Amino acid sequence: MLVNLKTILKDTREKNYAVGSFNVYSYETINGVKKAVIKTGKPAIISFGASYLKNMSLECVKYITESAVGKLEIQTALHLDHCSDLEIIKAAIEAGFTSVMYDGSALPFEENIKNTKAVCAMAHEKNVSVEAELGSIALGEHSNETDIDHGQAYTNPESAARFVEETGVDALAVSIGTVHGMYKAKPNIRIDILKDISAKVSIPLVLHGGSGTPEETIIQCIENGICKINVNTEISQYTVKELFKVISENPNTHLSKLTLIQEDFVSDVVSKYINLFSNVK
Ligand code: 13P
Repeated sequence: MLVNLKTILKDTREKNYAVGSFNVYSYETINGVKKAVIKTGKPAIISFGASYLKNMSLECVKYITESAVGKLEIQTALHLDHCSDLEIIKAAIEAGFTSVMYDGSALPFEENIKNTKAVCAMAHEKNVSVEAELGSIALGEHSNETDIDHGQAYTNPESAARFVEETGVDALAVSIGTVHGMYKAKPNIRIDILKDISAKVSIPLVLHGGSGTPEETIIQCIENGICKINVNTEISQYTVKELFKVISENPNTHLSKLTLIQEDFVSDVVSKYINLFSNVK
């Protein structure tokens, strides 16, 4: 069943777990997430980045997602990831996405507030949830969501409180040291900053850059207010590596078989993360 982000994250902070948000860009990746949802029996967010519009149209993503997970009893949400283009956000809402992320993190604070507020007005009218971002997440290795490294700027807890209050946003992505892509060095995740944000902001907090983040750090993040965790690069790296092995062993494997195996590899990584995010005591 497709619900909005607010609904899927409703109990997360209180019950101490997070919902995984997994990037998709094809029929196989959407089906891979679906298989993981069925295997684990737990909710997940199907997340389509605006940077993947060359791979699929918004309508196509909505159609395939609806047919894959729409009839399941387990909750899923269809989310537009990182988007700073208001026209694309509007189109995603019209196409039937249940959640959108407006990313104004590169803008001056007041402009980010103004635009996020406008997106909230447009989305909430259609029962669509909104995620926004404050602070800037650095670029690690092998991420293909963006080539621009805006550098690391940690989220300021006081600004976060004002931002949430003024915009009416449903979830806030914070920058505490994770990176988009794989880490180039040992990650330095600032749980102290997260604790401070969490004390001042009661809506669900979002962690971008889940790939490669140590398990104990993920658990600490969930214990301190993170309710949604995004994963992209690791799913791609694992799936490509495993497909390469299959093709190397049997170069004549039929493409139709490869697409099915691909879904299973995606599902392996997604299931691992769903279980990790939901098993915090
Ligand atoms: P990773 O590619 O590091 O997992 O980050 C994904 C992400 O944050 C998508 O918004």
